Amino acid sequence: MVEAFKVENIGELSGALLIFGGPYSNLQATSALLKHAETLGFRDSNIICTGDITAYCGNPRETAELIKSSGIRIIQGNCEQSLAADKNDCGCGFDETSTCNILSAKWYNFCKAQITEDLATWMGELPTRIEFQHEGKKYHVLHGSVDEVNEFIFPTTSEHIFQKQFEKLDVDIILSGHSGIPFTKKINNKIWHNAGAIGSPANDGTPRVWYSIISDGKITHQALEYDHETAAKVMVDNGLVEYAETIQTGLWPSTDILPDHEKSQTGKPLEEKTITI
Ligand SMILES: [Fe+2]
Repeated sequence: MVEAFKVENIGELSGALLIFGGPYSNLQATSALLKHAETLGFRDSNIICTGDITAYCGNPRETAELIKSSGIRIIQGNCEQSLAADKNDCGCGFDETSTCNILSAKWYNFCKAQITEDLATWMGELPTRIEFQHEGKKYHVLHGSVDEVNEFIFPTTSEHIFQKQFEKLDVDIILSGHSGIPFTKKINNKIWHNAGAIGSPANDGTPRVWYSIISDGKITHQALEYDHETAAKVMVDNGLVEYAETIQTGLWPSTDILPDHEKSQTGKPLEEKTITI
């Protein structure tokens, strides 16, 4: 897939940054995070989302409206690109016969029916990449990989692939989304960071969702507890049963997309951690 990138350079950011990915139509988690950010004193302009506003959960329109009105910074995920282009699938890059692909037809059709023309137009106008400087380092925000919006990059993706990513961009740190697992990987003197998804647990057997804070030369992976029971109820009420169970158990309905090591971590609770960058 050849992608035309729309890169927005936002210059220098100062102060702590809050990074999150994948709201996934989870209004309860997204609003809990934004309230938490406000409590912590974050300016909207220092909050960055790596895309996929709408996906598995039960409030696509309300979640998109919340993000749109919030003033935070966001790039397009594959879901925004599909909705803006009026496509019939989410563009996640699942194998055709996979469970994820079969389930995606249900949630994507639900999303598409809920998203207004105005919201789809707004999604299509979002940047696909954001660049900025922070504490002397150059950052590049993308959704999947340097080449493709829907490429899955995981903690155990080969070093060779990570190195290739950094050969293509003159930056110190890449902030990515799409794969739903929070991790920070050091490659020589570069950093690949995925804050995880705020709209879905990390397949770690807990209903917690993940975001990150970048400040004073450190990245901290942090978990958020929120009203996941209400999120799950809204999903059940709308027939999104499989992922409603995920929201409660913290276990994905399928691990088709995961490499072997990440599959072996299923149900093992992740720990909050801080990494020096
Ligand atoms: Fe995605």
